[in-house]
Amino acid sequence: MATFFPGESHTFSEYLLVPGYSSCECVPKNVSLRAPLVKYRKGEQPALSLNIPMTSAIMQAVSGPRLAVALAQEGGISFIYGSQTPEDEAAMVREVKDYKAGVVTSDSNLRPEMTLVDVLALKERSGHSAMPVTEDGSAHGRLLGIVTSRDYRPSRDSRDKRVEEFMTPIESLVTAPATATLSEANDIIWENKLNQLPIVNDDGTLVGLVFRKDYDAHKENPLELLDADKRYLVGAGINTRDYEQRVPVLVDAGADVLCIDSSEGYSEWQAITLRWIRDRYGDSVKVGAGNVVDGDGFRFLADAGADFVKVGIGGGSICITREQKGIGRGQASALIDVCQERDKYFRETGVYIPVCSDGGIVYDYHMTLALAMGADFLMLGRYFARFDESPTARVNVNGNYMKEYWGEGSARARNWARYDLGGDKKLSFVEGVDSYVPYAGPLKENVQGSLMKVRSTMCNCGALDLAQLRDKAKITRVSATSLVEGGAHDVLLKDSTSTSSVNFG
Ligand code: IMP
Repeated sequence: MATFFPGESHTFSEYLLVPGYSSCECVPKNVSLRAPLVKYRKGEQPALSLNIPMTSAIMQAVSGPRLAVALAQEGGISFIYGSQTPEDEAAMVREVKDYKAGVVTSDSNLRPEMTLVDVLALKERSGHSAMPVTEDGSAHGRLLGIVTSRDYRPSRDSRDKRVEEFMTPIESLVTAPATATLSEANDIIWENKLNQLPIVNDDGTLVGLVFRKDYDAHKENPLELLDADKRYLVGAGINTRDYEQRVPVLVDAGADVLCIDSSEGYSEWQAITLRWIRDRYGDSVKVGAGNVVDGDGFRFLADAGADFVKVGIGGGSICITREQKGIGRGQASALIDVCQERDKYFRETGVYIPVCSDGGIVYDYHMTLALAMGADFLMLGRYFARFDESPTARVNVNGNYMKEYWGEGSARARNWARYDLGGDKKLSFVEGVDSYVPYAGPLKENVQGSLMKVRSTMCNCGALDLAQLRDKAKITRVSATSLVEGGAHDVLLKDSTSTSSVNFG
């Protein structure tokens, strides 16, 4: 006889928090969002913690080096996507670890033979007005010049004009050597009244650009997540197929934490992968596993040695697993069940294994709910895909700026290792879609805005940290009629766009 879970399975939107008493010191600036990232024993400190409970999804459209740096600057961590060769993934990890604060690797680069048409298209796509010109058009190619909006007049210049004809050539540029400190670079920027300064290696290849605004921004990152050598923390996705090749190169590249990326984690393949890592590296390599949606799945991965466990099947915004295979569980129900098992495991063994709620966060208040229901931290895909720093281009769709966002199980990502059960390498059906999400600007201001709401709701619950939130939260289910009451209703909106920020952030 099959097992029937009691009751229905529910999603975040079906719950609300009932405020508790908040004292005068319960104000957002006093709230700590620090969260354990990996398991620890009772009375000890976790080897890795987050300063904000956010991680970015292990996805091509989300977690590249640029987003990883931006998120680490805010106190969270990215997991670089594993659906690429181990060497390419390791190069991205290295790029984050080698990141010199304030030096930006340009993702809008030109070749000299390109034309003004290309410049305008690239500017439209990226939103960047300064574009380095390199010999081969790559981010670290030999620097030949730079194009900014001061170099051309779109109303007068021929669209066929070649970049090399109107760029500011290297001979006329002020540059700094790779050995320059950020403070020296900043002095050069101020002395020469520059907006950006190219940093160039001895052999003339481009390291990156220092922007006046980024230097200022760097000084404003009090929660940035750094390792002992003051480098940004970064994670990386692995799978249960090629871990023997992938894990060593990621560890060599300096990945701080790994995560087995799979649509379904309650499987022997994950135990085998974890065992291989433990045999080879002991506890020195931290690795999360998942995804599971019930207590049994959690306990299996806990016993198999996971450093954290990820929860969620079928709730991702680009996910069609439930439609295709009929597996999954409402994210809220799954999370509550798994967190209860985590607490039971802790009481029994004295080992606390953090739980990550992965996918299905639509509104900012879903973040607070997930944390109140017991998640130690969150993994978000759609949320981060919308920002400047995600790896995708910004596109204009019917007059609105959008970013592309596609599932790892879509035909576009072709991440079959994520779904592989050890048999046929090519599944004949997809579990994800290819989509657009509304472009939302820089990560920093969006994350800070979302977390301001989380902090302020925590204060409403009388909680100054995430452990207190879990203890004190009073959570209620809402009826379908109450859901209608929760939005603007029975009024005529003057500006129909005024709800867009509510819907997407
Ligand atoms: P989102 O934050 O709701 O967009 O969900 C992101 C999560 O969806 C990821 O962290 C993955 O766990 C999951 N995911 C990514 N790609 C796919 C897919 O193609 N199908 C199903 N789930 C996916």
